[in-house]
Amino acid sequence: MIRTFIKAFIFMLAVVSLYAWVGQLVPQFEEQPPKKKIITPQTPPDELLAIGQETLRGKGGCLICHKDQDAGNERGPDLRKAAAAAATRKPGMGMEEYLFESLLHPEAFLVPGYPKMMPPADKPPANLSKAEIKAMIAYLQSLSGMAPTVKVLAEDAQANAATGPVHRGKELMGTYGCVGCHKLEGAGGEIGPELTKVAANREPADILNKIVNPAAWTTPGFQAGIMPAELGKSIPEGDRHEIVAYLAGLSGKSYSATGATSPWSHEGVRLGLVILVFNIGMLIALALARRSNKASEQTHG
Ligand code: HEC
Ligand code: HEC
Repeated sequence: MIRTFIKAFIFMLAVVSLYAWVGQLVPQFEEQPPKKKIITPQTPPDELLAIGQETLRGKGGCLICHKDQDAGNERGPDLRKAAAAAATRKPGMGMEEYLFESLLHPEAFLVPGYPKMMPPADKPPANLSKAEIKAMIAYLQSLSGMAPTVKVLAEDAQANAATGPVHRGKELMGTYGCVGCHKLEGAGGEIGPELTKVAANREPADILNKIVNPAAWTTPGFQAGIMPAELGKSIPEGDRHEIVAYLAGLSGKSYSATGATSPWSHEGVRLGLVILVFNIGMLIALALARRSNKASEQTHG
């Protein structure tokens, strides 16, 4: 009898290890809805600054070209100096007014030594609302050590609320600089091929591979070696899946390799699997115990 228990116990241990092993195989990835912060005239100044910083670094895609700290890109001027410079860039134009112009009509005044390449912040790919642009200006002012002077009005807040949600994958393609080189839904760079319909001819798994390993293939008509080799590896796995899910969706494909639409990504399914494995283990353990009981009855009876 004791031997049966020991056997059953060892078997249960094996089952629990198996379930732990299956559990760590399941990718820890969940498609997240885009974060939405509503800016209102009542938003406190420090929160406005924080939203401005988050917008500039995130969905604004500004860091593709600019830097707001020591490390960063230098295709455009250092944003830590922008608000201070703004006061004197154009004779007769105030700091706030210049900052608005530089974000909404970047071509109106080019900082000497820089090319015309900055997309207007209120157009795709960034597509920011008036309220978000004001929040970024508040952040730019704080970067230059000034107290923010921008005021959010009720109508900015309305426009902000009206902006529809953006797919997180699209936001990420701004954050990671893909749109600096690739055109997407009508806006973006032209160094690489347009990606709006890339999933029409490419499998989502291949797109995922191309992101991690840009040398995987070279798009005909384009130069190899320009797409940064280290970029994809620095992107967290979940974010890569979001990008592929978004690109697949633009061509009407669903993406299910290990990512976005995979049923594994739901807690409930994972829990169900765990319970199933556990129950099967119990059943087998019971059957084993009964079998060895019978066997010992036969030898003794
Ligand atoms: C594709 C590259 C690119 C992107 C993306 C970009 N910029 Fe620029 N930006 C530039 C360049 C180049 C200049 C200088 C030429 C000019 O004035 O347009 C510039 C100029 C500016 C200036 C004026 C700076 C000064 O010293 O006068 C500000 C402010 C600015 N950008 C803010 C932003 C913000 C905020 C974003 C994100 C919403 C952004 N930029 C996105 C390239 C970019
Ligand atoms: C510095 C510019 C640059 C950046 C940044 C960049 N790419 Fe590329 N990408 C290219 C170029 C150039 C090509 C075409 C040559 C090649 O295949 O390597 C390309 C090709 C591709 C292709 C293949 C398209 C096809 O139909 O063959 C995909 C997919 C792609 N890029 C996705 C991305 C994604 C996603 C990101 C952001 C994580 C990104 N790229 C960032 C320059 C860039």
